[in-house]
Amino acid sequence: MSYNVAVVGATGNVGREMLSILAERQFAVGEVHALASRRSIGVEVSFGEQTLKCKDLETFDFSKVDFCLMSAGSAVSKEWSPKIAAKGCIVIDNSSAWRYDQDVPLIVPEVNADAVAGYTRKNIIANPNCQTMQMVVALKPLHDRATITRVVVATYQSVSGAGKEAMDELWTRTRDKYVPGNEDREPRKFPKEIAFNCIPYCGTFMEDGYTSEEWKMVAETKKILDPRIKVTATCVRVPVFVGHSEAVNLEFERPLSADEAREILREAPGCLVIDKHEPGGYITPMEAAGEDATYISRIREDATVENGLNIWVVSDNLRKGAALNAVQIAELLVNRKLLKKAA
Ligand SMILES: NC(=O)c1ccc[n+]([C@@H]2O[C@H](COP(=O)([O-])OP(=O)(O)OC[C@H]3O[C@@H](n4cnc5c(N)ncnc54)[C@H](OP(=O)(O)O)[C@@H]3O)[C@@H](O)[C@H]2O)c1
Repeated sequence: MSYNVAVVGATGNVGREMLSILAERQFAVGEVHALASRRSIGVEVSFGEQTLKCKDLETFDFSKVDFCLMSAGSAVSKEWSPKIAAKGCIVIDNSSAWRYDQDVPLIVPEVNADAVAGYTRKNIIANPNCQTMQMVVALKPLHDRATITRVVVATYQSVSGAGKEAMDELWTRTRDKYVPGNEDREPRKFPKEIAFNCIPYCGTFMEDGYTSEEWKMVAETKKILDPRIKVTATCVRVPVFVGHSEAVNLEFERPLSADEAREILREAPGCLVIDKHEPGGYITPMEAAGEDATYISRIREDATVENGLNIWVVSDNLRKGAALNAVQIAELLVNRKLLKKAA
């Protein structure tokens, strides 16, 4: 059995990664279509050894496609996902457009795979935000053991999380610092200088002073893991190309030692523990880039609260944080025989 797949946003950071992961994992693809905006008609993208030419989303016929991996931003998804879903094609969407819709499951296969069955209500499944994704993969096994009551997280998010233009800006601004006359050029994509700096602002400001990225971590953790968990977040953009990092402080209902947490995480799906008390005995985003795992390091008890723990969580935001999770959802549908063949 093979499945026809369309990737919308195929010229983007996440779309390109989706195509490469589909090929890498030898997903049972029949036909594969690379779609983007009209601007990109004919642009070539790789799918394993093959080269695909991009087609225009607006004129593409989805009636013979089994599922669509959608990664072209929220506005495009709001307009197009329902139209695509109405053709019988299951949409797995990477944007924030559908994540908070009660009729759309928000899925991380290692955490809440059973909820995927609810996709039939709209034929749409949402992929969480990248920084929530890696955090819940690490939190789930600890929550199962000792019940998390509160999470305080600070993120160190790479520029690839803000799209390909943001990666270009880090590259050009870093280079500009060494080009006489260019040192103080105005930033374009980010509100302040990103080269050799860090910016405590991801997304947009909300009325209460938090940013939209911080709000997403709260809302999505509750929807995926447990609505009773209290979450507060500070999201920071750092001059790293790929790989998000997070310093996470956890409070539990029951005691959980650092040694126990290490053992639990070593066995947990999708997690890899690198935690030696020696220089270099921890993971950095550069090392996690290109990898599938969610890495956990620096596991320590927090003696300032009852039943507290600190952990450092790092993952490739384009892979587990976006493209890999979308492909894993497709695999979940196939493995559970929930994906009906399109006509
Ligand atoms: N990067 C991450 O870490 C990450 C993680 C989780 C979720 N996401 C989400 O995934 C989505 C894509 O992110 P990205 O980082 O890949 O962005 P990106 O690199 O800027 O790429 C955007 C893609 O969307 C396409 N697109 C834009 N407008 C379109 C339209 N009107 N019709 C069809 N295609 C259109 C672009 O095609 P053209 O080249 O033709 O313009 C391009 O392929 C966003 O919703 C983002 O929030 C990203």
